[in-house]
Amino acid sequence: MNNIKLKYDPNLSVKDNALKCGVSESAIRKFIRINNIDRRYDAKVAKARLIHKLKKEQPDMTLAELSRVTGYSVNTIKKYLLTDADASKIDTNKVSTFDFTQPSVVIKTVSDSQDEILYNILRLYVQRDTYDCDFTYSVGNFYVNLKKPQLRFDVNPQSDDIQPLSEAYNIRPNSLHSAVVDLPFIVNVNNNGNFKSKIAKRFDYFHSEEELYEANDNMIALAYNKLKVGGYLIMKSMDVCGPSKQIWVGNYVQNKAAECGFVLEDIFILISQTKYLYTSGLKQRHARKYHSYFFVFRKAKKHK
Ligand SMILES: C[S@@+](CC[C@H](N)C(=O)[O-])C[C@H]1O[C@@H](n2cnc3c(N)ncnc32)[C@H](O)[C@@H]1O
Repeated sequence: MNNIKLKYDPNLSVKDNALKCGVSESAIRKFIRINNIDRRYDAKVAKARLIHKLKKEQPDMTLAELSRVTGYSVNTIKKYLLTDADASKIDTNKVSTFDFTQPSVVIKTVSDSQDEILYNILRLYVQRDTYDCDFTYSVGNFYVNLKKPQLRFDVNPQSDDIQPLSEAYNIRPNSLHSAVVDLPFIVNVNNNGNFKSKIAKRFDYFHSEEELYEANDNMIALAYNKLKVGGYLIMKSMDVCGPSKQIWVGNYVQNKAAECGFVLEDIFILISQTKYLYTSGLKQRHARKYHSYFFVFRKAKKHK
């Protein structure tokens, strides 16, 4: 398969790729399937690149001439001239499905890897190699495979290179392109969790539902204030099943963000391998939660 990987050309049909690679068409189809290659998307990128290339080489070419040379309609030419020729501006060889030496996966709504989700949000929305700021940095598990944000805060800083959250309020308003928030999701009313230290214990969970809501409100407001218009807030969230009822934190966060002036651009769902569950008695009362969300909010033009 690796040989084919090197020769596969998204500009060619399956048949022509098979001829070029000297393998069967079904081998090419299998390769496309295994590598999650989106041929339709690649075809669009190829079209856009050709049109942009011609226009760059001969800026005086009219739409009609471009149409004649490429064989595409004038409307198609217009449409593609208005779009970016590249899938992403992130400077890495992993980002384009069009890069046939590195066919990367189509961006999906679900994943069992938060690294993949964070990477895909950069690729699809933020279009930079990392996020500007993280308000809940903790130990930085989000950045095992990504560059650390320049601005790192936490209400309970765990190392010298993390600033106390209170400092984040000094960031110039409307200045950030992107910010990340990942608050605790556990509400431990009885304060009897089995946690590491007293300080960690204080910040690993909320003592009440009210505290959870308040923390989410504060983070959304802080992010709104510091992001520029068009900037992105990436917020991890999870619904929880408490002792007496379910708390739909995800819905709360979505509503609050909209109220504040954010537009929900996307939702990525992280499928968990390990579960967070509350077990009371033997009878299962609700579906066990095996997922959390990464919301992508964009700061809209006007505060409602
Ligand atoms: C789940 S951890 C974040 C993990 C982090 N994303 C990482 O990659 O390592 C939650 C963080 O939220 C912080 N936190 C707890 N309560 C908070 C509050 N009320 N306001 C702001 N941050 C809080 C904690 O100190 C903790 O570091």
